[in-house]
Amino acid sequence: MENDNPLKVQLSLDSIEQIGPATKTRLEQAGFSSIKDLVVRGPVDVSEATGMEIEKSIYLCNQARIRLEDLGIIDKSFVTATQLYNKRKREDRLSTGSKNLDDLFGGGIETRAVTEVYGEYGTGKTQICHTLCVMVKQTKSEGGLTGKALYIDTENTFRPERIVSIAVARKIDPQIALENVIVAKAYNSAHQELIIQESGPIIDEKNVKLLIVDSAVAHYRAEYIGRGALSERQQKLNKFMHILVRIAETYEVAVLVTNQIQSSPDAIFGDAFRPTGGHVVAHTSTYRVYLKRSGKNRIARMVDSPYHPEREVLFTLSEHGVSDPSVSLR
Ligand SMILES: Nc1ncnc2c1ncn2[C@@H]1O[C@H](COP(=O)(O)OP(=O)(O)OP(=O)(O)O)[C@@H](O)[C@H]1O
Ligand SMILES: [Mg+2]
Repeated sequence: MENDNPLKVQLSLDSIEQIGPATKTRLEQAGFSSIKDLVVRGPVDVSEATGMEIEKSIYLCNQARIRLEDLGIIDKSFVTATQLYNKRKREDRLSTGSKNLDDLFGGGIETRAVTEVYGEYGTGKTQICHTLCVMVKQTKSEGGLTGKALYIDTENTFRPERIVSIAVARKIDPQIALENVIVAKAYNSAHQELIIQESGPIIDEKNVKLLIVDSAVAHYRAEYIGRGALSERQQKLNKFMHILVRIAETYEVAVLVTNQIQSSPDAIFGDAFRPTGGHVVAHTSTYRVYLKRSGKNRIARMVDSPYHPEREVLFTLSEHGVSDPSVSLR
């Protein structure tokens, strides 16, 4: 059952010579629908999910990667810095709805990267997610990516009413704004992982340009309790975050994850608050922004970016979702 979309044909499983009808069926039954899925999930997952020998799985995933490189979808294994530089200059950015926050990110959140926003309760993580969902529909000149949002809600805090109110405040048709968000409620960490594994075809078909996981860590934190469970939790979270990184690159979407912070009285340096998930989330996300309260406003600080300076900006939570304080409080 081929279709006439040429890119879809180029990305179909049987476009790889070694994938015959039986292997194709086996892969499809295990939830892989295109060669992008092979690259996102990687050989160990492919082998585990299909029962295929690991050697064959490594071979197929390599072929899939080479195909995506040839199609220019992912970077080649060896490229010059100039090529990377030129490519990065073309990277699309999505406005957060606040000029200050956009400046902090160098023009908005980046596609093909994972951005982590962490902070205490009520600092605006979920508000940023909702505002981005409204912004992503907008055209490039309006700060958007003319695409849809896929919102993975793990804390049951997605509110369509908030999408409507942010859209109305921004003079955007609320009906269109609602239609533009696909919501997947994740009931536990295993479900969250399944949703992510199945998200590839939806991202392609619906032209999703923004993937949100609010929050990435909450289920893991609730399910893996105590020191004994720590290493398993970190391992699972690590795998989840790596899939997100590969989805961002392979599907050319902006990924935003939120993370709660917990009080860490033993912290010696810096803030006494550290993101849950500790090093795992920190090392896999490309950009990390720490939010904290400042009177009625919020402060966002860029932390650990590979190229942004560590600096802070002020933003506010309003009927516009996130926006800029009308009077700068310095
Ligand atoms: N319509 C609105 N107008 C103005 N401010 C609002 C509105 N709705 C929510 N807020 C602000 O957003 C805050 C909640 O922010 P948000 O839900 O984003 O927090 P969070 O960082 O996601 O917290 P948690 O860790 O509990 O998930 C409220 O305390 C309020 O200040
Ligand atoms: Mg929240």
